[in-house]
Amino acid sequence: MPRCKEELPVGDLKSQVEEVRSSFEAAMASVNSTEALQELKVRYLGKKGTLTALLKSLGSLPAEDRPFAGEALNELRDELEQKFERKKLELAQAEDAAAEIEDRIDVTMPSRGRPAGAFHPVAQTMHEIVLIMQGMGYSVVLGPEIEEDYYNFECLNMPPWHPARDMQDTFYISDEILLRTHTSPTQTRVMEKMRPRLPVKVIVPGKVYRRDDDATHSPMFHQIEGLWVGEGIRFADLKGMLMLFAQRVFGDDVKVRYRPSYFPFTEPSAEMDASCFACKGAGCRVCKGTGWIEMLGCGMVHPNVLRMSGVDPKVYSGFAFGMGIERIAMQKYNIADMRLLYENDVKFLKQF
Ligand code: DAH
Repeated sequence: MPRCKEELPVGDLKSQVEEVRSSFEAAMASVNSTEALQELKVRYLGKKGTLTALLKSLGSLPAEDRPFAGEALNELRDELEQKFERKKLELAQAEDAAAEIEDRIDVTMPSRGRPAGAFHPVAQTMHEIVLIMQGMGYSVVLGPEIEEDYYNFECLNMPPWHPARDMQDTFYISDEILLRTHTSPTQTRVMEKMRPRLPVKVIVPGKVYRRDDDATHSPMFHQIEGLWVGEGIRFADLKGMLMLFAQRVFGDDVKVRYRPSYFPFTEPSAEMDASCFACKGAGCRVCKGTGWIEMLGCGMVHPNVLRMSGVDPKVYSGFAFGMGIERIAMQKYNIADMRLLYENDVKFLKQF
């Protein structure tokens, strides 16, 4: 008859098991850190641990007693391991909670803030010009960057054979579709829409594209177009308006001059220069010694353009102007190479 557990023959063992259990529990009660718990585990269950030693001593028991003694010790081992695991979890939770209190954010502390970033010099210049123009009564409209040949050239008095097309090296998407080479096509788009309600007085800021890439040209750049069409609008109005514009950009003591020019969509056409803001016209690095800064192209809207936009040139007249933003920004901030504007080098951009 196999003996049952209750009558464990190894009298010693039974009491040893109890001893180990109670001494373990006493020790466990005072454990208050994961390190202390680990030490305790080694002391009982490690290679040279108390319980391990008892398990090892099984071999020296009479063969018939081994199964019961083994069972009792294994049970104790399982029990201790479970208690270790539970305690480990408890301690980890308590330690996490303590760490959290320690790291808790002090909401009364002044914040370190985040770097705010800033407008890109091109966006800044564009923004300033748009604000000035809005102050002079212009509304802002946008046109498509992927444009029809018809609006980009034809309507602007440049039929397919026109040599002026060669001045704007164009990215064609198909024979009829291209990346707009200037903001001028929006003139016709606006007049087509607004023609029953003239006058129109708009500016068109935006990106334009040409097959050019060197220190002073980029395949993508920005322009602002202006258009004012109504009854009785004259070249004198254009000059007066541009004078005011130059004063708002460069200050009241600015001088302006017009040089005769040619654009197929304006007649007469001119280019306007402003006296150099850096040297007040004496000649310096910014204006390359000329005393003048090129600002924009302008002129009276060509009757053909009005006609193609559905506006009767016998009743209406108007002027248009167009300027490159990068060029103005480069002069304003004394930047020698246009490509710097697009390299996204924060050290460079931080200066503005
Ligand atoms: N579209 C011209 C260009 O990109 C600039 C321009 C000149 C626009 C005269 C105008 C203008 O509206 O009247 O070179």
